[in-house]
Amino acid sequence: MEVQIDAQEILEIVDKHKDVYGDLIVILEEVQEKYGYLPEEALRLVADAANRSLVDVYGVATFYKAFSLQPRGKHHLCACRGTACHVRGAPVVVEELERQLEINDGETTPDGEFSLETVSCLGACALGPIVVVDGVYHSKVNPAAVRKIVTDIRSETVQQEAETIATV
Ligand code: FES
Repeated sequence: MEVQIDAQEILEIVDKHKDVYGDLIVILEEVQEKYGYLPEEALRLVADAANRSLVDVYGVATFYKAFSLQPRGKHHLCACRGTACHVRGAPVVVEELERQLEINDGETTPDGEFSLETVSCLGACALGPIVVVDGVYHSKVNPAAVRKIVTDIRSETVQQEAETIATV
């Protein structure tokens, strides 16, 4: 899926944040918010506009797990596989996510609705297993909770589609 990059918008984002501490992180966060990931063309524009090397920009974009160089699904699910979550059942949680979504870690569903990712620690070890769904933390997740999370998102999507059809 090819995204259209609005060069003017990228310039505005860079202008707004450049010269502040951690500017590249803030700029890339806003670019990712807009496109859902960090397209190469956008990174080149950021490097030019912020007067930074492309290596610097890629360095930040690849260092932080929160950034993605690949398109993500509309709903992003991130499961922790860290040691604390592992001993509390993360492996069966990840298996259930993969089964429910019919994708593996690091993949996006063919309809572009879901992407799944695992990380090594999300900083909430005592509450594991942790799954972050569209930025919202779910704690002490088990396979039944996974099924509920996925079912809730799917029925929300169906409802939104029905509402859209009803208003057309
Ligand atoms: S190990 Fe999962 S949040 Fe730290």
